This record gives sequence, structure tokens and C-alpha cells, in this order.
Amino acid sequence: MFLMESWYVFGWSYEVAEKPVGRVIIEQPIVVWRNVDGQIHAAEDRCPHRHAPLSFGRVEGNHLRCMYHGMTFNEAGQCVDAPLMAEAPKCSIRTYPVVEKDSWIWVWTGAPENADESLIPKAWGIDDPNKPMRSHGIEYDAHYQLIHDNLCDLSHVDFVHETTLKVASGADWSATEPNITASGRSIKYERWFVDAALPSDTSVRVDAWSTYEFVVPGIFILYGARFPAGTAEKCGYQAPEGVTPLFENIEQQAVTPISETKTAYRYATGLIMDAANVTDQVKARMEVVIKTFEEDRQIIEAQQKIWALTDPEMKKQFLPQDKGPTMMRRLMAKLIREQEAR
Ligand code: FES
Ligand SMILES: [Fe+2]
Repeated sequence: MFLMESWYVFGWSYEVAEKPVGRVIIEQPIVVWRNVDGQIHAAEDRCPHRHAPLSFGRVEGNHLRCMYHGMTFNEAGQCVDAPLMAEAPKCSIRTYPVVEKDSWIWVWTGAPENADESLIPKAWGIDDPNKPMRSHGIEYDAHYQLIHDNLCDLSHVDFVHETTLKVASGADWSATEPNITASGRSIKYERWFVDAALPSDTSVRVDAWSTYEFVVPGIFILYGARFPAGTAEKCGYQAPEGVTPLFENIEQQAVTPISETKTAYRYATGLIMDAANVTDQVKARMEVVIKTFEEDRQIIEAQQKIWALTDPEMKKQFLPQDKGPTMMRRLMAKLIREQEAR
């Protein structure tokens, strides 16, 4: 089951240039293309003639031509030309609302009249020189919910990422419970890691503030900051205010279901700083993050294989850190139920 009434991340803005790009989102083939002025459009990636993908086609001004037998469509999805026909056949392809925001291309898969742009979660964007980020993407052979579970419970960092992200973050993730709050379509996590290590010099002890939001349908936006030891206590273990951080890191990630067994995962990692060597630092950080997400992919795909052999009703042991994943699963189930009831 998928949530249809939602914006999904199709990809990074830079991925769509002169050539159309085809991808599958929640089992719907979608083509995204830019017209001659660079304006973005999204449509069904299926020609009405012989169902060839239009992403194999060619942009001609403000039209998209199927490069199998030449049918051509305008920005509204209507056929405007077909070989051997004096008048274009009266047929069209479905178009999708599409928006570019914070370096991502967002496609609305629900009823077009419900495409409310205010539902698009705020991300960092990868093009701000004061917040340099690097981007990447992978595919999982796994159901999207298992990836949601993983991102809604970062206690696994200590075990799955024992030699990668745990070391890079300098924190004890499984020993520190976050404060979790839900609001609307998102779940927010906040916590202090008291007496953590400074990533650039692990001999320096700091207090690390970590907060992230996980927003429907799978958008993860994180902010982390390191402060001099004692800051957490001074702030009463609440969000830091009026204190200058020693180091700040940011992440933006998107889980986009392809099918019930395949999921795309796009992510960017970065720092907030204007130091001269920032690019090298972000590059080094990305190397750790790529290894980290490969570790996630391996455990989640292995877990998916066991889930496929297991009765869904079989009881699972609940642990305190399951609170976040449970809240997210309930929120998704509620939204899907509401969609079914319409
Ligand atoms: S499949 Fe597109 S024109 Fe034939
Ligand atoms: Fe992970």
C-alpha cells in the first residue's frame, strides 16, 4: 500500500537537463522533462500508442516527442502530432504537479487539485555556498517502511555503524533516548549527547545537540551542533539558544518507494561553515556517509529477506527505541486509511 496523496522526491534538480528522465514512483512510471526555457514538467512515462517510455523521447521546444513512432505531446499532456495523420489523435497522457524546491524535484502523485505546495517539507538545499553539501543516491531491495524504521530509530548507529558514523559523530546513540514529538505529518527528535567527542579532534570533549525531523512520506532533515562541555547543563538540557557552536552539520535524505520491494534513497550531507577547507571536510564526510548507508543497505536488505519468510502477524519484541518507528508507521497507516476512505 502506498500513500498517493503526497509529494515524492523524484530526484535532484541537477539530474534533469536537456534529456527527459524516467523513474518509477509508487509503481507509477513518470517522466520529468524541461522545455526549451528550462521549465520543469512531469507526465506519465507511457506513450498511448505502444506504451514505449517517453523518457526515451526528445524535447522539441515545448513538446515531448516519443522516439518510437513519433507521437508528440504538449506541456498539458495532449497529443499534438502523429505521423501520417493530418490531425493529431484525440488522446493525452496524465500530467503530474511538479515543483523544484531545495535542490529536489517533487512530484505529487495524488489528485492534482490536492497538490498543496505547503505540504513540501523544508530541506537545506545543496546550492547554498554557506552550507556546502554533497549529494548521492542508492536503491534498496526493500520495502520503504523498513527504511523509515531505520531512520526513525538512530540507536542502530552504535551497532550497524560501529566503525563509521558512530566514530564520526563521537556520540553514544543507543544509550541516549531522544525526546520525540509528533505534529501533523512529521515526527521530531531532539537530544543532547553530553561528553561527546569533537569529530575533528576526538580528544576534545564537547556537548553535542542533535535534532531531526522525519516527515511524510519519508523525508529526513537533520541538524547537529557541537558546543563546549557544560553547554547542555547551562541550557537546562533544552534546545541551545544564544550559544555559538564549535561545529555544525546538516543532512537531507529522501525515501521514495519504487515498488513494494524496491526503494530509492537520495541523500546529501554537509556542514554550516565558511572555513577555507570546507570542501575537503564535506568530501571526507561524504566518504563516511556513503560507507554508512551501504551498511544500512546490507542490514535492511538482509532483514527484508527474513521478513519475506515471516508471517506478518508474528509478534515482534518491543524495545523502548521502537517508539519513533511505531509513531511513523501509525501516521502513515492513518494517512493511507484516510485516502482509502475518500
Ligand atoms: S510507442 Fe510512442 S509513438 Fe509508438
Ligand atoms: Fe543507519
